[in-house]
Amino acid sequence: MTSTIFITGATDGIGRRTAESLAATGADLIIHGRTNAKLAPVVAALEQIPGHGRVQALAAELSDLDAVRELATELEVTLGERPLDVLLNNAGVFMTEHARTAQGHELTFAVNHLAPALLCQLLLPRLRRSPSARCINVSSMVHKHGELRWDDFNFKAGFNDRAAYAQSKLAMVVFTVELARRLGDSGPIAVSLHPGVVTTKLLVDGFKMQGRDSLDDGAATSIYLALLPTAELRAHAGGYFKREKIDGVHPSARDPQICARLYEHTCELLGVEPLPAR
Ligand SMILES: NC(=O)c1ccc[n+]([C@@H]2O[C@H](COP(=O)([O-])OP(=O)(O)OC[C@H]3O[C@@H](n4cnc5c(N)ncnc54)[C@H](OP(=O)(O)O)[C@@H]3O)[C@@H](O)[C@H]2O)c1
Repeated sequence: MTSTIFITGATDGIGRRTAESLAATGADLIIHGRTNAKLAPVVAALEQIPGHGRVQALAAELSDLDAVRELATELEVTLGERPLDVLLNNAGVFMTEHARTAQGHELTFAVNHLAPALLCQLLLPRLRRSPSARCINVSSMVHKHGELRWDDFNFKAGFNDRAAYAQSKLAMVVFTVELARRLGDSGPIAVSLHPGVVTTKLLVDGFKMQGRDSLDDGAATSIYLALLPTAELRAHAGGYFKREKIDGVHPSARDPQICARLYEHTCELLGVEPLPAR
């Protein structure tokens, strides 16, 4: 059966290469980008790939949580009767300056943590229609240097770009652990990953460095997790992957109380009902 994959941030870098490789598997792709102008050439390129399935596109600015809600609604319409097999939260940003979103969140935290968390939560009913459903969150090895700033997630005092990025990626890993725990032993599976260190706009403009990994390396772990048989993936539910293998996480992601607190706090910020604790 053809699987249906929704991938955010597919207009550039690792997300675009991931979409290209997944298109070649014949999967139906719904790609997300910031604008229709950025999406159109990517759709055209994907439709040139031999063996491609259906390719559709949805635009949204992910820093605005109202736009993320609209995106989820548009995705439901686009899917029609189809289940969603893979939610691939790939989009991410490295902000060098402090910026606030429409809802007042620090922008890195909003795009890298709140938006993917909201998509996970809102799309759960649709994911539950697929027997192989999975929510794959692209984090970073940098999460290991992160700190959850419970009193100041938004860096009201003293913005530090690397600390903001690391916190957002740590929040994503911690959220994924708890989401997976609450999803239990059946239904959708949540995992996170580090893609590699790849020369992309985010790395060059944000980190001011070049990567040692290729775009294909960067896409490999997302593709691996998107295609892994469900039983094998379930054995690692909540896990964090690097180079297609389970990898170690920040101590916060190993502390069930911190995971539950971050999950509940995130749901509160998003105004969504948390899944019951297990
Ligand atoms: N590159 C690395 O070495 C590295 C390492 C670890 C983790 N990662 C993670 O890998 C993922 C992909 O990053 P990349 O390196 O491929 O970066 P990239 O080339 O800059 O691509 C990022 C994608 O996300 C989209 N995006 C960013 N901010 C957005 C927003 N506010 N609203 C809507 N879309 C937005 C971008 O759209 P535009 O093209 O319109 O900006 C683009 O499609 C990110 O989650 C990143 O944190 C990357």
